[in-house]
Amino acid sequence: MSEALSLKKKVAAHSMDLVEEGMVLGLGTGTTMRWFIEYLGEKVTKGGMKVQGVATSEGTAHLAEQAGIPLIAPEDMPSLDLAVDGTDEIDSDLRLIKGGGGALLREKIVANAALSFVVIADESKLVDRLGRFPLPVEVDRFCAVATARAIQICLKELNLPDKVALRKREDNRPYITDGGNHIYDCYVNEITSPASLAVSLDAIPGVLGHGLFIGMVAKAMIANAEGIHIMEAQQ
Ligand code: 5RP
Repeated sequence: MSEALSLKKKVAAHSMDLVEEGMVLGLGTGTTMRWFIEYLGEKVTKGGMKVQGVATSEGTAHLAEQAGIPLIAPEDMPSLDLAVDGTDEIDSDLRLIKGGGGALLREKIVANAALSFVVIADESKLVDRLGRFPLPVEVDRFCAVATARAIQICLKELNLPDKVALRKREDNRPYITDGGNHIYDCYVNEITSPASLAVSLDAIPGVLGHGLFIGMVAKAMIANAEGIHIMEAQQ
């Protein structure tokens, strides 16, 4: 197992301490969450723990079902006790870039519905400044190229590189999210003001969501070779 993968496994195991009997949990998407779901499934099937989950993607729903975790349909979603998810980047202010796995919009909706949103990650995700990981922006397919141009204008106005690329599948066809939308990845390199960029992107008609998660994370658990580093949001 690669070092990053074993750190993902380690942090997922550690994060099980957050889960309590009776909780309704938001389940994020990605390889770190695979481990979380596996461990949570063991608590349910072997330990008899009663929890329910809301999945942020079809892939996560499938994994949770396989692991024996009861799921609540999205249309019946109550408020959540806790949402747990991985990330592509995290800075020291607990701001994130998410969406490498294409589930950013549903991940943001679910994180926002939780009393507490906790990020679990290996140390490679910790950055001084957000932006080296291409920022995903989920857009409605209607006139998507016009929305892409509006995104470029917004990037230029903030003095950021305006290189955006429609995300493609392996067969070169456009990637379609679980919600049926397109994703444009923005190669911004370094985001000097994540909050300004988030506000500007949110104002574009056709943009359904973007991978900047700001002011949402209550706690981050970051695994490194020595152990688990905890970062908490200031109240
Ligand atoms: C999916 C995400 C994932 O949380 C992010 O890509 C991290 O994934 P991994 O745990 O596989 O490194 O945002 O949309």
